[in-house]
Amino acid sequence: MTERTLCVVKPNAVKDNHIGAIIKMLEEEGLKVVGLKMTKLTADKVEAFYAEHVGKPFFEGLKEFMTSGSVVGMVLEGDNAIARCRKVMGATNPEKADEGTIRKLYAASMTENAVHGSDSPESAAREIAFYFDNFSII
Ligand code: RTP
Ligand code: MG
Repeated sequence: MTERTLCVVKPNAVKDNHIGAIIKMLEEEGLKVVGLKMTKLTADKVEAFYAEHVGKPFFEGLKEFMTSGSVVGMVLEGDNAIARCRKVMGATNPEKADEGTIRKLYAASMTENAVHGSDSPESAAREIAFYFDNFSII
């Protein structure tokens, strides 16, 4: 089934000049970029974006990290785009990520793990609407 998902290149990977490499890996998987935007998230935006994690022990560190620099968000389209994007990303903990995945290559730690990817059709719809206005997506 054709799906759309939101993938965000996180601040550590932007700082380390890996935007292009990450987009290339996702394109080589066969996913189509149908929206692309660089921005800087405020604390309020991170609290809204990662609402399900507010109050967890790692949340303050996540918020500090996600507001520490620019991010690049993209909408990816394709068959099973949500799962395929997460497969290319690799496990949340980079020590457990498979060889050749984005997180294995570019994560610095469990928090600074290079990329975000939506985890369900419901989160994808919510996150795409949150990150983009309709004019910015094909
Ligand atoms: P994401 O939402 O960013 O795509 O990551 P995910 O689904 O693989 O993992 P999730 O459980 O949703 O966690 C969101 C982000 O919070 C940070 N985190 N740090 N230090 C920790 O124990 C910890 N746990 C999670 C990571 O940046 C993770 O991607
Ligand atoms: Mg998640």
